[in-house]
Amino acid sequence: MNLTRRGYITGMPRIELPLDNLPLDMPVRLRQDGAAIVVIRTGDGVRAFQDRCPHAQWPISEGEMIDGILVCPGHGWQFNITTGHCLNAPAYQLRPLAVAVDNHGVHIAWN
Ligand code: FES
Repeated sequence: MNLTRRGYITGMPRIELPLDNLPLDMPVRLRQDGAAIVVIRTGDGVRAFQDRCPHAQWPISEGEMIDGILVCPGHGWQFNITTGHCLNAPAYQLRPLAVAVDNHGVHIAWN
């Protein structure tokens, strides 16, 4: 299923997708223009990150949400999805992407 539209804002690649098509508390993998992205919708909003664990580069989109924490499938590191910070190794964090939600859906941009 193709959920996305692509385009560019001020030179940054972006994706737009309908909010209703994002499941709650479940990582969703997107691939666009060579970018690997994970999107997570919670009751508090939508977050997007580069789809790569900072530990050993596993795709974090293959992880799962447990009690609001994203758990990497590689070695179990846990991430706060509000900040992207790792709870096991505070020096590490997921790379956040710009996200906006409006009446048209979810807009994700990166560079
Ligand atoms: S690759 Fe994510 S915890 Fe090791």
